Amino acid sequence: MASLAVLFLPILLLILRAEARPPPPLHGVRHLAFEEGYTQIFGSSNLALHPGGKRVRLALDQSTGSGFASQGLFLHGFFSAAIKLPAAYAAGVVVAFYLSNGDVYEKTHDELDFEFLGNVRGRDWRVQTNVYGNGSTHAGREERYDLPFDPTEDFHHYSILWTHQRIIFYVDETPIREVVRTASMGAAFPSKPMSLYATIWDGSSWATLGGRYGVDYKYAPFVAEFADLVLHACAVDPSTCDATVTSAEQRSAMAAFRRGHMSYSYCHDRRRYAAPLDECAAAERVPAVARLFGPDGMRRRHRGTGHRAAAQDDVM
Ligand SMILES: *[C@@H]1O[C@H](CO)[C@@H](O)[C@H](O)[C@H]1NC(C)=O
Repeated sequence: MASLAVLFLPILLLILRAEARPPPPLHGVRHLAFEEGYTQIFGSSNLALHPGGKRVRLALDQSTGSGFASQGLFLHGFFSAAIKLPAAYAAGVVVAFYLSNGDVYEKTHDELDFEFLGNVRGRDWRVQTNVYGNGSTHAGREERYDLPFDPTEDFHHYSILWTHQRIIFYVDETPIREVVRTASMGAAFPSKPMSLYATIWDGSSWATLGGRYGVDYKYAPFVAEFADLVLHACAVDPSTCDATVTSAEQRSAMAAFRRGHMSYSYCHDRRRYAAPLDECAAAERVPAVARLFGPDGMRRRHRGTGHRAAAQDDVM
């Protein structure tokens, strides 16, 4: 048996690797070189381009984090990067890949986020998605997930599709969250042009266990690698945005991911929303899913895993 396992291990690894595929809207799309679409926004030499200009290295050390942004603003589009997160002990470290127009609309900005939150030893990086529209920062719409792979080991694709009607977040080829525009969301659905940003920064005050564990610069520099950068405006190439009509297969992959990996949802958080926001109705109606979450919106843990006490502290 043991020798059989050894025989099959390389095949298994090959299969796992092949699963880190880009989502369907990306198939056949050209990846931009850095200078074609982006510009550095902070961090001086902590941003470095690999030869060829298609890979970017963002570092955080004691002196500064770093980041870049798209040169242009986009009203609806498909945005994607393959990201490899820092492998060092990363409590307090935040890597963000997001759309925002906070520079243009100070009080009424829109935002769509992927935020990667570093963790204490023995606990994995977590991913958070969020949606703000027209300055609706009082109403957080956070969801958090653990990942079915080690995001520090290899590049994985993280993508945001934003159309007039819906927003889909993808991890590799799997849609993990869909926000459909509803009348009750009103302007909380992002509706003004945004830029794309990628940053690494010190989130000591909140990122890990409510800020109890800050960045330990003994482990610096913290390095995040970005590749396969994609900016695709729906207006320029509408076919990319047709992928909003996800197949039955994609729908069930999304449901399975959320059942297996969602660790927090604002839709289940009764401390923040005594009554769930209207767009949550569908999520709330599935008892098999609702049952997985406590009144604090956190996933219920089985007793005896030792995770529960820590997880409960791990709030916004
Ligand atoms: C966005 O917010 C501003 C300020 O609160 C408000 O005046 C405006 O009507 C809002 N826009 C929409 C489309 O609701």
